[in-house]
Amino acid sequence: MTAEPFGPAYASLYDELYAGKDYEGEVDLVVEAFRRFGAGETRAVLDVGCGTGGHGLPLARRGYAVTGVDRSAEMLARAREKAAAAGLAVELERGDARSLRLERTFDAVLLLFAVLGYMPGDEDVLAALRTARAHLRPGGLVVLDGWWGPNVVAHPPQDAVREVVHAGAPVRRAATVELDPARHLCTVRYALEGLAGEEEAHVLRYFFEDELERFLAATGFRLLALSAFGALDVPPDADTRTFAAVAEAS
Ligand SMILES: C[S@@+](CC[C@H](N)C(=O)[O-])C[C@H]1O[C@@H](n2cnc3c(N)ncnc32)[C@H](O)[C@@H]1O
Repeated sequence: MTAEPFGPAYASLYDELYAGKDYEGEVDLVVEAFRRFGAGETRAVLDVGCGTGGHGLPLARRGYAVTGVDRSAEMLARAREKAAAAGLAVELERGDARSLRLERTFDAVLLLFAVLGYMPGDEDVLAALRTARAHLRPGGLVVLDGWWGPNVVAHPPQDAVREVVHAGAPVRRAATVELDPARHLCTVRYALEGLAGEEEAHVLRYFFEDELERFLAATGFRLLALSAFGALDVPPDADTRTFAAVAEAS
């Protein structure tokens, strides 16, 4: 059975699948972006597509007032458990990036680990960026990342397998990929072998510079930095798998 992305089985594995991801290092980068590009103090942060709290929890630990929103109840449940276990006060709410309206503003909005990529059509991307803009004060920042289009063209993603140990037993995640170059989409079908045979299809969009600039300008942002993820001063090139963008709410 193919389930909605980030359903119970996938969410229960998520932190094990990405145990090697350097969230603290990524938060260092986010904080550097706040310092370098933020107009005024950055304190209140909205983490859209917060998942299990990989960025939100470390930010809360560093003193930021964090609100996390995600569409997946199971990912949010994991984030809640982790926040409670760490004694961190993080506000966590269920919502869709395209329609969320909390009726208050923040100093920064995050869309990290390809959250914008989960918006397949132009209207979805625009709606998510409008959400980000609606939750920012003028001068507030959106920090986002995603798959870099020129890299997908030069080095198309390949089928891959990742194995983790979950609750003491091996689980194999087999990923098969299918590109739709006309729509800048990659469908990744995950089969979780060893976990009730769950399957999920993740439709991920990859981005090019001109469309990113257009999407941001159309939703009330000014692009301040476009870089390879991990180094704010390094422009992305065909070898850059993940880009980072920082834009200011105008
Ligand atoms: C790859 S995960 C990243 C999670 C987290 N930001 C991290 O870095 O670990 C993508 C997340 O985006 C969420 N997501 C995808 N589409 C969404 C939407 N339309 N609205 C809200 N959340 C969404 C998923 O549920 C998932 O938790």
